[in-house]
Amino acid sequence: ARDRSPAPGSARVLVASNRGPVSYTLRDDGTLDAKRGGGGVVSGLSAIGARDDALWVCCALGDGDREAVRRGIGRGEDGVLMLDIDPDVHSDAYNGIANSVLWFIHHLLYQTPLEPVFDDGFRRQWRSYETYNRAFARALADRAADGAAILVQDYHLALVPGMLRELRPDLRIGHFSHTPWAPPDYFRLLPDDIAEQLLRGLLGADRTCFLTRRWADAFTACCTEVLGPDALKGTRIGVHGLGADAGFLRERAHRPDVEERMTALREQIGGPDRKTIVRVDRTELSKNIVRGLLAYRHLLATRPEWHERVVHVAFAYPSRQDLAVYRDYTAEVQRLADAVNDEYGTPGWTPVVLHVKDDFARSLAAYRLADVALVNPIRDGMNLVAKEIPVVSDAGCALVLSREAGAYEELGADALVVNPYDVIATAAALHEALTLPAQVRADRTARLAAAATALPPQRWFLDQLEALAPEA
Ligand code: G6P
Repeated sequence: ARDRSPAPGSARVLVASNRGPVSYTLRDDGTLDAKRGGGGVVSGLSAIGARDDALWVCCALGDGDREAVRRGIGRGEDGVLMLDIDPDVHSDAYNGIANSVLWFIHHLLYQTPLEPVFDDGFRRQWRSYETYNRAFARALADRAADGAAILVQDYHLALVPGMLRELRPDLRIGHFSHTPWAPPDYFRLLPDDIAEQLLRGLLGADRTCFLTRRWADAFTACCTEVLGPDALKGTRIGVHGLGADAGFLRERAHRPDVEERMTALREQIGGPDRKTIVRVDRTELSKNIVRGLLAYRHLLATRPEWHERVVHVAFAYPSRQDLAVYRDYTAEVQRLADAVNDEYGTPGWTPVVLHVKDDFARSLAAYRLADVALVNPIRDGMNLVAKEIPVVSDAGCALVLSREAGAYEELGADALVVNPYDVIATAAALHEALTLPAQVRADRTARLAAAATALPPQRWFLDQLEALAPEA
């Protein structure tokens, strides 16, 4: 921990994201509990060590964070500056625009006969999105030293690069999209002026970066179609395929709390000869958990030889529960898991073991035990679960992987690749994965692990920083 925060105008490396590296909850006794998050940016940033000229600008989310700010925490000490944004503005920007519009656009989630409808309510939310982006741009402009490097993260902050460029033309600005990018026909569901504003916002960066070539190409195509052929002049496009953090994962996955959870999971699975199909996701619309369960049900319906011999271990952790569509989806996952268990379960066999309480140690336990990993998103920027499982797997794990996950570019060759909408094909891939000879599975897992760790988070982060350097 550092006792000094970078004074205004002195930070040389700044990261900006909606969700910060630490979150606070208010305990009953009035004290604050700080929880450090994981994720690629957090471990990437550790590459620059405890420099006191680095600053992470994020949003105070929820009552705990806001209370922390009131008590003077998150004002830049320990390198974290939490912006206290009006909760209504934040909700319109985050729930309304970021998660209900931009997330839906880039993951192709709209059911277009009814949605989207861009009306007055949307315009009001859009103004909040601008306000919220401006708050970030101002904070960054205020804190950054001359010529500092700014790494802006994700779709929440798409307008920041352009706004910041106007305030501080001296800064070197990068933007990173952790999501897919929509193809032009779909991106153009957005009102024309909004589509333009979003693209110009991102083009305010010196470098606009994506997880895969595919998303970068889609962005380029949108710029050309919406803004014209010269739109990309002055902005470089980067591709940095964030990989898994092997050192961290392997160490963490062998601690006693993970071993304990492996014992508990083995008990729930029952029978030592039972195979496991593991999935670990946020309960996220784009993760396609429902079709995963339908595929598993199809497997049980068409291949009775698997009855009593396989268990689907599905972890679906709460996400974005302010949004009704996420709450409904969560309920549907639960309903379907129960239905499969009612239909096929026996006194000694629970076909689906569903856990909904977030527990990283238990996720790692499942990673180690998995015979098959099911990663079947409708669309996904990368999908780190697909990269993490091969790294920590004890005995080798067959990967059933959607071709719409960013990870497919790097892992497709050694995975069983599926169209995520096709539950029959997914069931067939699950069967094939379950029957893969042990040696084949182990060999593939080793190659998957090598591909998955090609660009560890720290290198991923430094590459972006170096590419922004003036001489680059
Ligand atoms: C995706 C986004 C991240 C986001 C995460 C969790 O991975 O790219 O920016 O933080 O989902 O979503 P949440 O809405 O809980 O921050």
